[in-house]
Amino acid sequence: MSLPNQNPDLEDSINVSEAHERVVREAAACARENRVVDNGIGSISIWALIACGVVLLIAGGVLAGGGDLFSYKATFREGYVRAPAPGAADSGPVPKEALAAYMAKGAKIYSAKCNGCHGSDAKGNGSTFPSLVGSAWANGETERFAMIILNGLQGPVSDGKTYGVMPPQGIGMAPEDLAGIMTYVRNNFGNTKGDVITTDMAKAAIEISAARKNAGNSVTADELTADHVKALPGAMMDPKTLLDPITLAPAKAP
Ligand code: HEC
Repeated sequence: MSLPNQNPDLEDSINVSEAHERVVREAAACARENRVVDNGIGSISIWALIACGVVLLIAGGVLAGGGDLFSYKATFREGYVRAPAPGAADSGPVPKEALAAYMAKGAKIYSAKCNGCHGSDAKGNGSTFPSLVGSAWANGETERFAMIILNGLQGPVSDGKTYGVMPPQGIGMAPEDLAGIMTYVRNNFGNTKGDVITTDMAKAAIEISAARKNAGNSVTADELTADHVKALPGAMMDPKTLLDPITLAPAKAP
């Protein structure tokens, strides 16, 4: 350490006591520094730090590359496919028992096509519209009932009375609509047949109707009795069969 200006301070520009104090302070700092190193707790060498860095770098490479510590494969299984969120895969509408499913369809057709004449209770009015409640033809052979709906009816009805003329209702009626309305009438308003008229039976009915000798005209009691006192072809369906309520197709197993 070179002490500042050693020449006599003729101008008194140096504050002697302050300079002296500084010399003492610096000497004390040097002494302290040496003591720390002697104790073995001095600051570590920059080379030691660099060596640590190299070691960590290699260790990290070995662990991440060879081992599974930071490996993507360890946290995501090979071939893993994320399961669809619940409800995301459309499982379709909740299945319904056949009788309820067909009746739900039939209820809509009834209010659109039959309600206006036969009434919301299907009791008719006793004079111009007959009752369907307990009607032998609504509750009897399915082919006869289908022919009335598809072609309309003229002349006496099942109770022997003539009420008027029922216009044909089959125009534009899909098989599932015909099946629905027949099932609905036979199992509602106090009628309790308990059977399901299937879409297949209704398809057969539409074919039979188109093949009638006097196709295009209303059916009459005579024609019904002569040709149509039959059950529609097609397998009976267990009313408890689970169906898709929209398509009326058998519900897929969940
Ligand atoms: C425009 C009025 C009208 C509509 C709509 C109508 N009907 Fe009729 N229906 C009649 C009339 C009138 C008779 C009686 C015909 C006769 O006296 O020959 C009748 C008779 C019947 C019969 C015979 C009943 C028996 O006991 O013999 C059945 C079954 C029947 N209708 C079912 C239906 C169904 C099901 C629908 C709906 C798809 C329907 N009708 C729509 C007017 C109608």
